[in-house]
Amino acid sequence: MSSTPESTVSSDQTFDAALRPGSWEDYIGQEQVKANVHIVLEAAKKRGDMPEHLLFYGPPGVGKTTLAHLIARTLGAPLKSTSGVAIERAGDLAAILTNLDPGTVLFIDEIHQLSHKIEELLYPALESGSLDLVLGKGPSARTVELSLPRFTLVGATTRVAQLSSPLRSRFGGGVYQLDFYTDEDIRDIIARSAGVLGLAPSEETIAGIAARSRATPRIANALLKRVRDFAQVHDRELSGTVCEDACALFGIDALGLTKDDRRYLETLAENFRGGPAGVRALAAALHEDAETVEHVYEPFLLRLGFIERTLRGRTLTARGREYLNR
Ligand code: ADE
Repeated sequence: MSSTPESTVSSDQTFDAALRPGSWEDYIGQEQVKANVHIVLEAAKKRGDMPEHLLFYGPPGVGKTTLAHLIARTLGAPLKSTSGVAIERAGDLAAILTNLDPGTVLFIDEIHQLSHKIEELLYPALESGSLDLVLGKGPSARTVELSLPRFTLVGATTRVAQLSSPLRSRFGGGVYQLDFYTDEDIRDIIARSAGVLGLAPSEETIAGIAARSRATPRIANALLKRVRDFAQVHDRELSGTVCEDACALFGIDALGLTKDDRRYLETLAENFRGGPAGVRALAAALHEDAETVEHVYEPFLLRLGFIERTLRGRTLTARGREYLNR
């Protein structure tokens, strides 16, 4: 191979950016969200104003960041991206907000990670475009009110319940849930991405990848690229059983479940006799933290109907048991 690891990485990142839909026509699915956001943006454009702040929530990889890019593009506005963990201190927020070009779309990913203190600083910034900063400490401390350039905040989170309700209520442009995708939408996304990558997979290969993509575009695109790599190394076409053979090697089964998912289900079945098991006890048995179990492992298993969350804990369903016994 002639390319260095660095150039491989950068060319794959270029492809990642290339796979991100650059227009609303290319953004497949989530029709109701698109229709609502369209109204907010077009109305603001007609008034010659910035739209109110918008919040998107839903599982990882369903297109929240992509929406922020599309919103900025539609408004012809610059996009500034940051994330909740990156804004630790008041000074971090002040630096970001005071340096925005007027009319910027500010994207804060994982916005639930902002501390209460930062959330409180953000309220007046969202409402009246001003930031109250305390300078100095003790008796000599004083407050200055900075007036900020106009901006629209686009927030994204996988954990909307962790946002305080005062913060949630500041998203006047709407709070939108992005859900898992239908199989048909995922197939369309894979077909589109394959076209961008210059690939021509068979219908069967597209369906095979879609079935293993956990109803999530990011996983679909990543799996398409891995199956492409497998086919390239084995000198095979993207047809026939290439998806099944590649996924057998990757440890991804026909439903898109990985060994981590199977370990979760087996632990619930064996260590806890199918539950109910408290999430903390389950997490301890899996050597994971409870947050990861709740937000990474469980959403897709719940969607498959393999587990249930009850007041007394997690239980394995009949369907989940059937899967394990298959
Ligand atoms: N990539 C991520 N989300 C997408 C979507 N909704 N449509 C097309 N490609 C995507």
